[in-house]
Amino acid sequence: MEKLIIEGGRPLEGAVHISGAKNAALPILAASILTAETLCVQNVPRLRDVATTCALLTQMGLWVRQPAAGTIELSAHAIANPLAPYDMVKTMRAAILVLGPLVARCGQARVSLPGGCAIGLRPVDLHIKGLQAMGAEIEIEHGYLIARAKRLRGARIVLDLVTVTGTENLMMAATLAEGTTVLENAAREPEVVDLAQCLNAMGARIAGAGSDVITIEGVECLRGARYRVMPDRIETGTFLVAAAMAGGKIKLEGARDDILDAVLEKLRESGASISAANGAITLEASGRPRAVNVRTAPYPAFPTDMQAQFMALNAIADGTALVTETIFENRFMHAQELKRMGADIEVEGNSAIVRGSAHLDGAMVMATDLRASACLVLAGLVARGETVVDRIYHLDRGYEQLESKLSALGARIRRAG
Ligand code: UD1
Repeated sequence: MEKLIIEGGRPLEGAVHISGAKNAALPILAASILTAETLCVQNVPRLRDVATTCALLTQMGLWVRQPAAGTIELSAHAIANPLAPYDMVKTMRAAILVLGPLVARCGQARVSLPGGCAIGLRPVDLHIKGLQAMGAEIEIEHGYLIARAKRLRGARIVLDLVTVTGTENLMMAATLAEGTTVLENAAREPEVVDLAQCLNAMGARIAGAGSDVITIEGVECLRGARYRVMPDRIETGTFLVAAAMAGGKIKLEGARDDILDAVLEKLRESGASISAANGAITLEASGRPRAVNVRTAPYPAFPTDMQAQFMALNAIADGTALVTETIFENRFMHAQELKRMGADIEVEGNSAIVRGSAHLDGAMVMATDLRASACLVLAGLVARGETVVDRIYHLDRGYEQLESKLSALGARIRRAG
């Protein structure tokens, strides 16, 4: 099994380019199901979850080609097999994103129910309820969701809680429904906006994406388009935290500061100076960061996908911080591993009290999920001695070439057998 070996204690200096956003690329790739014409997606990050999505679409009967690095062309001229099998959904929960497009385009879908995952239960009841409100018949048989609808009908859907992929699934389904759909309490995440822009380029009529009410006027069919995926705000945030912890000065090219307000605010509070100009973000920091309280909540508040990285920052910060997770019920698995490196963390329900230590010590640690593995890499960058992060296949799901980008910034990090 591959591991990352990190020798801590070096500041970060230099510039790296930010990749396309995984959480925008995955729904956009799934949107290719909605048209018989070719969708050309650019700035797609090379990640394990992208490869899984392409394999999933290929086994359905789509043609998927990669004419150049970072560009994927998809043609769903015919969908022979509207199925998302257990083996694929179990490795990537976002596979549920094919459900809405399949029902809308093919009138049927068979999608394995995602099980529990490392960070909590993560049910899909709101995806199901929304499609039912649009006239789909849904049954559960042998662990699979079986959905059928001749043609979906527009509906007013009030989501019980804010769900990102739920909003995306229903928005995609509604593009081909008869009549108008109104999604209330919709997710406002920038990735929802990116998907809506891609769908509109394909001929959809979506208004309000980015607000909590999205209106979708259904059309008969969508056409092909060329679309460039937005930059990854979580990759951006992860590098910024790395430099805030390790010290130094880094420039992140191709990044967007306008979708990172809550994270940038916390980094400034920790003592870093940050500036943004010409599509790049620069962060400079020296000395120990100050402890910062964080509380996760749907966008535009502080993202749950940055919680683990800020726990690493607080582990070495000057002061004590309260980290509160309100989105997922079991997202503190990294706390236990950080403690093995000498961190002082007390977990109490959905909160963690982190008392900053002057030093962390390198250790053998195990990644449990994508963002937890990023947190351990960050801790390794500042720890005394060598840190070995095991199970880095989690990292490859969401960070494109993390170790070569960190090496380019001067970190001592390598991948081993
Ligand atoms: C997406 C992101 C993920 C991020 C998360 C929250 C993608 C591919 N993944 O995941 O990186 O951490 O948003 O920002 O974009 N819920 C229900 N019923 C449902 C759906 C969700 O109860 O039908 C609950 C979940 O259990 C969770 C909360 O709603 O507690 C938010 O989950 P959701 O926004 O759906 O997360 P994902 O879309 O799976």
